[in-house]
Amino acid sequence: MRTAADFNLYYAAPDPWHISHSRFRDKVFRRCLMPFIRDKSVLELGCGEGHLTQAIFSKARSVVGIDISDVAIARAKSLNLPNARFESADFLQASFEGYDVIAAIDCVYYLSLQERGALLEKVAEEHSGKILLLSGPIVDYRRHFSHKRLMHEFTTLGFAPLKFYNLSVYWHPPSSRIIAHLIKLPLAHTLLDWIPESMIYQRLYALRAPKHH
Ligand SMILES: C[S@@+](CC[C@H](N)C(=O)[O-])C[C@H]1O[C@@H](n2cnc3c(N)ncnc32)[C@H](O)[C@@H]1O
Repeated sequence: MRTAADFNLYYAAPDPWHISHSRFRDKVFRRCLMPFIRDKSVLELGCGEGHLTQAIFSKARSVVGIDISDVAIARAKSLNLPNARFESADFLQASFEGYDVIAAIDCVYYLSLQERGALLEKVAEEHSGKILLLSGPIVDYRRHFSHKRLMHEFTTLGFAPLKFYNLSVYWHPPSSRIIAHLIKLPLAHTLLDWIPESMIYQRLYALRAPKHH
């Protein structure tokens, strides 16, 4: 796992992943996250500087955002969001008890396979029968973060995949770059779920954690 110091280095300059001005990303996330988070209490893992907390999770009843980078958390706190509270911690050490929904947006692929297993087991244990929203690039990490691998892990651990959503088009091979651009036209993002599997870069999974017996 990368450490707080590693992530603080990323955050030496604000917005290291250039997400705060990506209106397309916000639009796509808003569409698929909203039905799950509206009026709910949400635990947002790896919340970074609080961009999605502000842009998307403002519609949640309450949000607790956790990030390992204290630099990012200081920026998130300075947003003074009325429905949110932020904590700097390793999410593998935080309590998952007491929330309607856990969201792990674009942060789980930094974990090793073992750590990811530990995270899912912790969700199963402390968030039993409730919703987990998890996203990441399913192409770059073919071996560790592929659709097949993730679905296998989810079902082995008893998670029920409710739905998955494509979030973006991969720009490799170069021929798919055209589609990656076209999909950004107004309303075209609604076609994302029809794009062939091999062209998808990021995917969001909505899962129900297994129920305790
Ligand atoms: C690519 S950023 C995504 C930020 C935000 N979720 C978004 O999608 O806009 C990944 C974030 O995960 C955080 N992160 C990674 N591993 C973590 C861990 N074990 N505990 C808490 N935060 C972690 C990083 O510090 C970073 O802020």
